[in-house]
Amino acid sequence: MATSSNGLPASDPRAREAATTLPVYGQLPFVPERAAGCHIFTADGRRILDLYGGHAVAALGYAHPRLVDAIHEQSRTLHFQSNAVALDVRARAAEKLLQIAPRSVQRVFFVNSGAEANENALRMACVATGRQKILSIRHGFHGRTAAAAAVTWGSDGWYGFPSKPFEVDFIPRDDCDAARALITDEVAAVIFEPVQGVAGAFDLSQDFVATLRECTQRHDALLIADEVQSGMGRCGEFFAVQAFGIEPDILTSAKALGGGIPCGAVLCSQAVAGHFGSGDLGTTFGGGPIAAAAILAVIESIETEDLLSNVREREAQIRAQCVIGPVRSVQGMGLLLGLVCDRPAVEVRNSLLDDDVLAGTSADVNVLRLLPPLVLEPAHVDHLAQALAAIVPAPVS
Ligand SMILES: Cc1ncc(COP(=O)(O)O)c(C=O)c1O
Repeated sequence: MATSSNGLPASDPRAREAATTLPVYGQLPFVPERAAGCHIFTADGRRILDLYGGHAVAALGYAHPRLVDAIHEQSRTLHFQSNAVALDVRARAAEKLLQIAPRSVQRVFFVNSGAEANENALRMACVATGRQKILSIRHGFHGRTAAAAAVTWGSDGWYGFPSKPFEVDFIPRDDCDAARALITDEVAAVIFEPVQGVAGAFDLSQDFVATLRECTQRHDALLIADEVQSGMGRCGEFFAVQAFGIEPDILTSAKALGGGIPCGAVLCSQAVAGHFGSGDLGTTFGGGPIAAAAILAVIESIETEDLLSNVREREAQIRAQCVIGPVRSVQGMGLLLGLVCDRPAVEVRNSLLDDDVLAGTSADVNVLRLLPPLVLEPAHVDHLAQALAAIVPAPVS
C-alpha cells in the first residue's frame, strides 16, 4: 500500500488533505465517516461521544430530523437567491431571531460566519458613533478577519496585518475600576464575550458585565455582545446576556445559529440601524434560504424540545459528577464549560479520546473545554465522568 510522508496510507483523507490544503490546522487523530445524535462514527469502527460539537456548532447534534428535513425541503423548493430579492423564509428567520433576542435589538443583518458578524458589528459601531476607538476584554477571541483580529487578545503580530483598522485597548477581565477608567467619550464600543469561549469558558463576573453596560451607556458608547460561541441556547438562555440581565446595543451570532449550515447574524438596536441605508453593508450569501431554513429549525427545536432546560440540567449534572480524576473545578455556564485540570488539558483530552470521548482544549493550558450538543443526555455525562475517573492521578510532586 502506498504511504504518504506522514506514514498514513496515501488514500487516507488526512494524507490527502496534507498534500492539498494549507497546513494551518492541528487535526485530531480520527476520520469521521458519519454522525448521529451526540456520536461520531469512524471508518475503523469507533463510536466517539462528541462533547466538542465541531467548535460549538452542532447544537442539535447530528442528523437531527427537523434540521435535516428543513435543509432538504428548502433545497428542493428554492436553494438560493441573494438579498436582491425578499424571501419569506428569510423574513421568518429574522422575525424568529428577534423574538428570542434581548428586547434592545430589533434589526438583523445576516452574514456567513462569526468573524464576519464581528467585522460588521465593529464597523457599524464606528459609523454610528463617529468614533474610532474600540475596547475589548483581555483574553477575548473575536475571529480572524482584520477588525475581529484587532480586538482579539494576543493577536498583535499574529494575523500579519500591518496595522489595526482602529485604536484598540483591552480591559483586564473582571476589573470594574479599569472599565470605569477606560470607557470614555472617545470610545465607539466595547466588545465582549459574556462567557469567554476560546479562553477556556471563563464566565465574566456579573458586576463586571453590569459595569460595562452602565459605563457605555453613560458615555454614549455602544456595547457589543459577541455571542458567537455563548449564544443560541448554549448558556441555558437563548443568549448569555439574558442570564446576566443586560441588554446590548449590538449582538453577534454564528456557529450554532444554523446548527452546521454556515451562517451568522448581527442584531442591533433601531438607533444603530438608523445609520445605515441602501449599499452601506452587504454580502452575497448572508441570509440565503437554506441558512434561513436552518436557523428556523434550530430555534424551533430548542423551543419544542425544551433544550434550554436540558442545558441547565446537564450543566448541574456535569458540575456534580465531573470534578473527578484530573478535574479540580468547573467554570463557565450552561454547556459552555471549562474543566480546570491538574495537568495540561491536552493530556486529559488525549486520554479521553482513547476512551472514545471527544473534548476540546482552550487557550488556557490547564482548561479542557466542553461544547457538546444541547441534546446531550444524562447517560453521556455518566460516560464522561467514568472516563475522567479512569485517568490515572498526576504524580504527587
Ligand atoms: C466568541 C467568538 N467570536 C468569533 C469567532 C469567529 O467565528 P468564525 O470562526 O465563524 O469566524 C469565534 C470562533 O471561535 C468565537 O468563539
